[in-house]
Amino acid sequence: MLDKNVLEYSETLKKLGINHSILEHPELVTVEDVQKYLGFGLDEALATLIMKTEKGFVAIVRRGDCALDSKKTKKVLGVESLSMATDDEFRQITGVVPGAAHILHPVTKVIIDEKVFEKEKINGGSGSLLYTFRYDVGDLKKIPQSQIADVTKLTVSTVINKSNRVFSGIRATGRLHLGNYLGAVKGFLELEKTGKYETVYCVVDVHSITTPYDKEALAKNKREIIIDYLAAGLDPKKSIIIYQSDVPEHIELAFYFSSVVNVARMLHLPTYKDKIKQHPNAVTMALLNYPVLMAADILIYKAGLVPVGIDQEPHLEVTREIARKMNQLYGTDFPEPVRFATKGEYIPSLTGEGKMSKTIAGSYINLTDSLEEIRKKVRSVPTATTAGGEMSSGVKTLFTFANLFMPEETVKYKKAFEDGTLKFVELKDALAEAIYRELKPFQERRAKIASDTKYVDEVIRDGAERARKIAKATVDEVKKKMGLI
Ligand code: TYM
Repeated sequence: MLDKNVLEYSETLKKLGINHSILEHPELVTVEDVQKYLGFGLDEALATLIMKTEKGFVAIVRRGDCALDSKKTKKVLGVESLSMATDDEFRQITGVVPGAAHILHPVTKVIIDEKVFEKEKINGGSGSLLYTFRYDVGDLKKIPQSQIADVTKLTVSTVINKSNRVFSGIRATGRLHLGNYLGAVKGFLELEKTGKYETVYCVVDVHSITTPYDKEALAKNKREIIIDYLAAGLDPKKSIIIYQSDVPEHIELAFYFSSVVNVARMLHLPTYKDKIKQHPNAVTMALLNYPVLMAADILIYKAGLVPVGIDQEPHLEVTREIARKMNQLYGTDFPEPVRFATKGEYIPSLTGEGKMSKTIAGSYINLTDSLEEIRKKVRSVPTATTAGGEMSSGVKTLFTFANLFMPEETVKYKKAFEDGTLKFVELKDALAEAIYRELKPFQERRAKIASDTKYVDEVIRDGAERARKIAKATVDEVKKKMGLI
């Protein structure tokens, strides 16, 4: 049962239009302990300080990983003196005990540090030591008497990254589509080409079993993706190309990592919530563990750079949290990996809504589609019947593709759109041809590689051998540091 004060506070927030959810935990006083229990980092915590100045009290709301910069704060407030309120003063002003402060303080001015707005959601006190509010950060601007200002400095470096390894993976749930190619594979190629990194590219077949699947299709699809990688231009002499299940150390490390991951954190991930909506009868431990296995995939190679689409950012955040926790608790030296973004980091769906995805019929173009198939699919993108006016989402999609596949011609089509003279079918057919032009060499190489069974087998065997050496060394190190050997 929720505390009456917490409910009242929640109602007040609702009236102000501040969207939030309520998280429950045992009685915890410090922000560190609450975040640890809930499985979040300090960068996703709001900490409220009540400060005393010659002009009166002020509440300062900042992120848990940011320290107050008194010089900046005095300047913003136009004051000479600035000190912390005593515990008694804190109680008087907030009406609650220290540690339980919430963000609404009717008697004080509120300064919200601008770094708070770098996050989408953030946790803050509820007035009770048993509940924490998770706010939609954009709504915090609605706090009465509040002002956003730069009053802090970061205390913990958020990216500690000296690694020169790259890792990425694609699930074996079907053939590759344009979203996979533009958001991920193009990044794989770009990084391989620099010659500066040791690149490891994987078909994450074990991740493919976290949602219902067909075993014959999986066995076939996983090999097709290796062939796609090679046809796209990955060079097995430069990159290590592997099946995840050929390096069982990934699974082993994921289990060790799961000991520092909080269940509540996993339950709140948007990707998990989406998947359980799609598969309400298959809410499994494997699905809940998906991000932990992904963290193990990356960190087992101590990779610092991960070429993936923007949709994978929440999983990378979990990976960084795991790296930090392992380093803190066991003295490991995992880097905090960052995403390598391509120009195609978000490829929209052909339906005009959401992103291109293997699981949404009619949303994607496969890399192996013929010109005829591509033409048919591009023609199906919904467009306004009359040209001109506001761009509908379908039209925006067409222009996103135009920018990526025929950038020189896009200006001409855009002008025609603005003048109201654009014939959509002409734009669509030109686009279909431009897409096919880019895919044709890939398809030709693909046919050759697919017929060379021995070569493909050798790439997979050699990749597994090279990867296992690195993976085994990391697992041995972790076992030692965790007291297992
Ligand atoms: P998966 O198989 O869903 O997608 C593979 C890659 O394709 C990118 N992608 C897109 N990029 C731009 N626009 C789109 N519409 C689009 N659709 C897909 C994804 O961002 C991804 O880069 N969790 C990962 C697999 C994985 C992984 C890893 C990735 C497991 N372990 C370790 C990197 C590192 C996934 O589901 O990808």
